[in-house]
Amino acid sequence: MVPGRVSQAPLVVVSNRLPFILARGLDGRLERRQSAGGLVTAVAPVVIECKGTWVGWPGTYEMRPGEAIPESDAGDQAPTAGLKSSQVVAVNVAKDKFDAYYNGCCNGTFWPLFHSMPDRAVFKADTWNAYCEVNEEFAQNTLAALRATVAKLDAEGRVNVAPIVWVHDYQLLVAAASIRKAAEEEGLRFRLGFFLHIPFPSWDIMRLFPWDDQILQGMLACDVVGFHIEDYCLNFIDCCCRRLGCRVDRNQMMVELAGRTVHVKALPIGIPFERFVELAESAPKVLKTTEEKTILGVDRLDYTKGLVNRILAFELLLEKHPEHIEKVTLLQISVPSRTDVREYRQLKEEMDQLIGRVNGRFSRANWSPIRYIYGCVSQNQLAAFYRDSAVALVTPLRDGMNLVAKEYVACQIREPGVLILSPFAGAGGSMHEALVVNPYELDQVAETIHRALSMPLDERELRMTQLRRRERKNDVSRWLESFLDAMDGVNDETSLVGNL
Ligand code: F6P
Repeated sequence: MVPGRVSQAPLVVVSNRLPFILARGLDGRLERRQSAGGLVTAVAPVVIECKGTWVGWPGTYEMRPGEAIPESDAGDQAPTAGLKSSQVVAVNVAKDKFDAYYNGCCNGTFWPLFHSMPDRAVFKADTWNAYCEVNEEFAQNTLAALRATVAKLDAEGRVNVAPIVWVHDYQLLVAAASIRKAAEEEGLRFRLGFFLHIPFPSWDIMRLFPWDDQILQGMLACDVVGFHIEDYCLNFIDCCCRRLGCRVDRNQMMVELAGRTVHVKALPIGIPFERFVELAESAPKVLKTTEEKTILGVDRLDYTKGLVNRILAFELLLEKHPEHIEKVTLLQISVPSRTDVREYRQLKEEMDQLIGRVNGRFSRANWSPIRYIYGCVSQNQLAAFYRDSAVALVTPLRDGMNLVAKEYVACQIREPGVLILSPFAGAGGSMHEALVVNPYELDQVAETIHRALSMPLDERELRMTQLRRRERKNDVSRWLESFLDAMDGVNDETSLVGNL
């Protein structure tokens, strides 16, 4: 999948969640449960191939000290099936501390802040302290994995190979600082990379966080810092310049801190395109076989996804264009998420009420405007929904990339539908053939849905063909390769000093 280079440099992936969840079965033993994300699909095979390690939280508080991670079951089809338990490090954190870190700081502070919604963010010293402590636990577990990796390379005589430590996302913004410090003191060889899966905000927003300097320093402990799009890179560089006084080069996307050059990269993530095509080809039909058209929304139930605005815009469509009554249904799938955080519970209530109101207002004896699934659907069912929906509504208020937009176009293997996309998702910057709408402007959203529903076949074909071509080319493997390329570039002599 990724050229020979991978087998030369073992990868130590560090993410909040392991690529599978551990849960106790009826017999009391821990077992692996699959998690379906594209990141896992792409990265797990590489970790397996390069005999690397994955460090993360196992999704349970029930692991007993010293309890072994189970091997995968025979016949396991998940991408992680070949990942041996010796390649997995479970970071076990006490429930209270994890709660303050995950619900408190990650999702109560950084999630809203980084999505430029500071009014929803809570700034508290105790949850920030818990965040730092948990990051430190991740760092210590990573260091143990790095030591073992270097020792193994030495034993094999591969003394010139430097392992790549790859830290992921906003849950682990400061872990790299401890990893670098200790690894350098111990004389371990390593390269350190970071990728942020959500937006990086502007300086005006970032400076609201009382300990912003520690965040920036934590990220700058890496050799490469990756974001989905150039805007996030430039925001980060700007913050480094203004908050830390770093020398920066915005053209070359480099930041200098304490004589070290950090490379900042726009690395837009893709999806496992062919996997979605295969799913769409084999998934049985699940939507009604009537003339009724389906408009599809698929999101985690999160206030960043613009769900309330979406329902209001759909209501406006029925008001302004009553010809769609009994002809069109909005199928909204909302996957429960972070239900321990108050904002998410409130959104659930708001959605339930709003959808009830709109359905009450427009329903007929044999038709309701909105079908609402609050729960998870299988990958097969999802692919069928994507394939058979006339319109996909991807209208977040803010979103790092948004993979639903990409999954929808991958599954458009029959009569093409129309993608409606917010410019405030990272995907909005590259999926040019989508109909772009400002999710705050409800009239425009309603009119754009109307336009999508009436779009002639040749225009739909033209747009979808180009969208699919681009996403097929820029799939998740390509993203992974770009990251590894960037890490390989670390040893080059490029330094900021020569470029100023
Ligand atoms: O988009 C950021 C992210 O952390 C993803 O990596 C993840 O799939 C999603 O949010 C859900 O996050 P959580 O781990 O909080 O359920």
